[in-house]
Amino acid sequence: MYPLQTRGNARRTAAHMRGSMKKRVGILTAGGDCPGLNAAIRGAAKGLYQRMGGDVEIVGIRNGFAGLIQGDYMEMQEGDFSNLLTRGGTILGTRRTPFKKMLVVEEDGVHKVQAMLANYRAMGLSALLCMGGNGTHKTARLLSEEGLNIIGLPKTIDNDIWGTDVTFGFHTAVDIATEVVDRIHTTAYSHHRVMLIELMGNKAGWLTLYSGIAGGADTILIPEMPYQIENVLNAIESRNKRGKHFSIIAVAEGAFDVDESRMKRKEWMALRRQCGCTRAAERIAGQVEEALGFETRVAVPGHIQRGGTPSAYDRILATEFGTYAAQLVESDQYGVTVALRNNLVVSNPLAEVAGRTKYVTADCDLIQVARRMGVCLG
Ligand code: F6P
Repeated sequence: MYPLQTRGNARRTAAHMRGSMKKRVGILTAGGDCPGLNAAIRGAAKGLYQRMGGDVEIVGIRNGFAGLIQGDYMEMQEGDFSNLLTRGGTILGTRRTPFKKMLVVEEDGVHKVQAMLANYRAMGLSALLCMGGNGTHKTARLLSEEGLNIIGLPKTIDNDIWGTDVTFGFHTAVDIATEVVDRIHTTAYSHHRVMLIELMGNKAGWLTLYSGIAGGADTILIPEMPYQIENVLNAIESRNKRGKHFSIIAVAEGAFDVDESRMKRKEWMALRRQCGCTRAAERIAGQVEEALGFETRVAVPGHIQRGGTPSAYDRILATEFGTYAAQLVESDQYGVTVALRNNLVVSNPLAEVAGRTKYVTADCDLIQVARRMGVCLG
């Protein structure tokens, strides 16, 4: 027996839906929250009701894959999808259920994949929309390969999902991070300081690159381009000589230097711990103070970057993705994830997307722009 906690009326509805043209669509949001999730839920629901009217039922699964494992869900009505466009976070709740643990039976003895398959069937679902980032897409592919009708919707402030030009949540985070960089400027120039802003992005530096360019950062450091501290110091000194007695450094939380790039992450993190400084920005601030004697400060906006209402851009993108997913459900196209390519909403096979990360490349447009602007990239 799998732990199906039937909080809705799954058995009745499953029987009721069988043999009819009706569809019962589950929606879940997994991984870190981001602005635009509610807009995407709303877009999917309104799209489904528009296309299928009374022939569709929507089930909200709570807290991502954890809810699917536990059978924790709610029957949703049309009215539940009103007033969502501007709301941050996710009304369904979310949780990180790491992909690498999906096949591991832990202390509770639950076989997670079997539980998800059993609960999907017990809920009487015809399809499941999985909104999430890279981890979510891996689990989505797994469920799809197990025979479930899965559609992914790519969300993350990291913008690192392969096959889509952009994910929803990203541009809101860029707007927030840019405002942080803007506001830090005034203190930096008034106090003649080197100010470091550590932005989210452990593996991919898109958010730091975009907001660094938008906010006019003098140095931008991202995980894809290991830095040499000497280059960072030279850039500060060179500005100083030109009468600019302050510098703004936008650094991704996952940035590391050239020496560290020769080690495994675990190894350099252990070394940083020994030195009592694990944070990328604080480490660099210490090196700058020691080498140049400049007063430095570090600002870490953290989860503020993921909080609050989505920007107009993200509301539109999330609505486009949601309504496109509804269209895919109506035409029974599963095993795919929605994407934006060259300004067109399309879908990619989950099998192609899952397990691949979209990194910043040295030849991408914005890196070229940074170089043309004389921004130090480390
Ligand atoms: O994946 C989105 C993200 O915000 C990353 O940029 C960041 O490294 C991570 O999530 C933080 O995770 P958590 O919210 O679990 O602390």
